[in-house]
Amino acid sequence: MKDYKKDFVLFFNTIKKLNIPKRAILLILSIMIMSNVLSLAFPLFFGNIINGIVSKSFYTIKMNLLYMFLCFVVSTVLDYKNQKMIIKLSYSVELNIKEELFNSILEMPYSRVYKIDKGRLVNNIESDSTIFSSILFDNMNLVVQTISMIISLIFMVYISPILTLVTIVTFPITFMIYIYSGRMIKSKEIEYTKMHDSFMSFLYESLSGLKSIKIFKVENKWNEMFRKNVMDINEKNIEKFNVQLVTQVIIGVVTFLINNLNIILAIYLIFNGRLSLGMMTAFNEYSDRFKGVLLLLSKLNSKIQQVSVSLRRVGEIVDSESIGKIENVNDKERYNKIEKIEIKNLSHTTQSSIEVFKDTNINFYKNNIYLIKGASGSGKTSLLNILSKLIDEYTGEILINGIELKCYSEENLRNKVSYVTQDHYMFSISIRENISLYRDVPLEDIENICKRLNLHELIINLPNQYDTVINDEGLNFSGGQIQRVCFARAIVSNPDVYLFDEITSAIDQKNIEDVLRIIEEISANAIVLLATHENFKFNVPIIECSVMNKRIETNELNLLQNV
Ligand SMILES: Nc1ncnc2c1ncn2[C@@H]1O[C@H](COP(=O)(O)OP(=O)(O)OP(=O)(O)O)[C@@H](O)[C@H]1O
Ligand SMILES: [Mg+2]
Repeated sequence: MKDYKKDFVLFFNTIKKLNIPKRAILLILSIMIMSNVLSLAFPLFFGNIINGIVSKSFYTIKMNLLYMFLCFVVSTVLDYKNQKMIIKLSYSVELNIKEELFNSILEMPYSRVYKIDKGRLVNNIESDSTIFSSILFDNMNLVVQTISMIISLIFMVYISPILTLVTIVTFPITFMIYIYSGRMIKSKEIEYTKMHDSFMSFLYESLSGLKSIKIFKVENKWNEMFRKNVMDINEKNIEKFNVQLVTQVIIGVVTFLINNLNIILAIYLIFNGRLSLGMMTAFNEYSDRFKGVLLLLSKLNSKIQQVSVSLRRVGEIVDSESIGKIENVNDKERYNKIEKIEIKNLSHTTQSSIEVFKDTNINFYKNNIYLIKGASGSGKTSLLNILSKLIDEYTGEILINGIELKCYSEENLRNKVSYVTQDHYMFSISIRENISLYRDVPLEDIENICKRLNLHELIINLPNQYDTVINDEGLNFSGGQIQRVCFARAIVSNPDVYLFDEITSAIDQKNIEDVLRIIEEISANAIVLLATHENFKFNVPIIECSVMNKRIETNELNLLQNV
């Protein structure tokens, strides 16, 4: 029961966050109840008609037929209108959840989001949101059905209290079955979603690594893995449906037995003159509805369990939103240019327990280029990841203008620090957007940097020049061109700190020269950290730092302190 209560609270908390139009929901719910109540009068009218036939009262038959017809027309019109509203609202709720989830994922600190399976994130946005929005209406239906169950019960008591008593004996039995099977379905559902997440990750990775699969001709192996994944998922699904099916059969048998007992009792009451034939028919109809809701509950049980799992997953993502928003930097510091970065006793151990840094100290100052060198795996990328807040698991201090890095919000830091990572990525959007990333950057600035990076000529010869969409009609850039686009992306934002990770690995000598000249220029007013294996020839003095033995050391102990 605790689980149900927890889900209930989570459901309402998430609903509150989602900004769902409450008035529309109330309207739909009221119409659903109205139309249901109307349809509940049917058995009573029908019972009266049978009694009219028995007593040969033409008037009773006529009036009850008329009432039935009127009720039918009104409830059909109400249902039609309501269904239309439900469809509209359910789409908007689904969109709302998807948007909230996508936004929460984007807002989540990278250090957290990169640990989550990509497949799970896709499933969170796609399937969990759909399941979540559908339960909103299933829950409304459940409210309506419960009301109709209570009304049926009132009619049943009104017709025959003894028969009602026999009918409701089933309730505790069905309820126990419902709770027990719910637990089983839920555990299967958790296993199923885990499998589905890893299947989505498998698909995601297969498509990203398609080139390697083809080059090494391992398509068959991948196909086998695909087949195994799909079969495992199907098996889990079948197990889940089996539990559901067995529950339905058990509830069906219990209901059938009670039904027969009821009929025998009803016949006895009719023979004793304590019940009319018409009212027995009406009672039967009401008790069918009453039991129908119990059956519906058992069918819904699987869905409710599925939702409960989705709900937690959605809740986990939506709730984590706040983690990335710690901000203590005072307003003055927000607008100050970064003059120095002081690293004191920095230690960093990866999730897989690899100790990358141990008690290392180094300072970086404005107007300098720092060349970060070190063997592969020594920690160059890790240092840049920490400084850009992509990784936040470290001990020691990193002071930016004297304020701890952890106190800077991601938003504040991103405006001051540009990072060109080792893996270069272009989105399927226009070249201009690929450089601006929808930030407020004048086209002139984009053109200027592209001219300096030897990209302008290439771009203006494309069909839509800077508005040409990448990957559209097979358009893509070469490795070195992509690297230069990513470099341009960092330059146009004009930050205080530049973090460059192996940005010239795919660039030819002539273009490297251009990149180095730009780096020299920007370093006049910024801190530049350049991780590389190359021996660059700069025209300005630079400071070499080596990363080894879990430390970052510089060849100058007291660095040029230009403050
Ligand atoms: N996402 C990660 N999760 C766990 N461990 C990681 C992760 N990224 C890097 N590491 C580990 O951290 C250590 C430092 O890696 P890092 O990428 O910083 O090295 P690097 O100096 O940039 O190497 P390279 O010159 O090859 O780019 C390595 O031992 C690596 O295995
Ligand atoms: Mg690296």
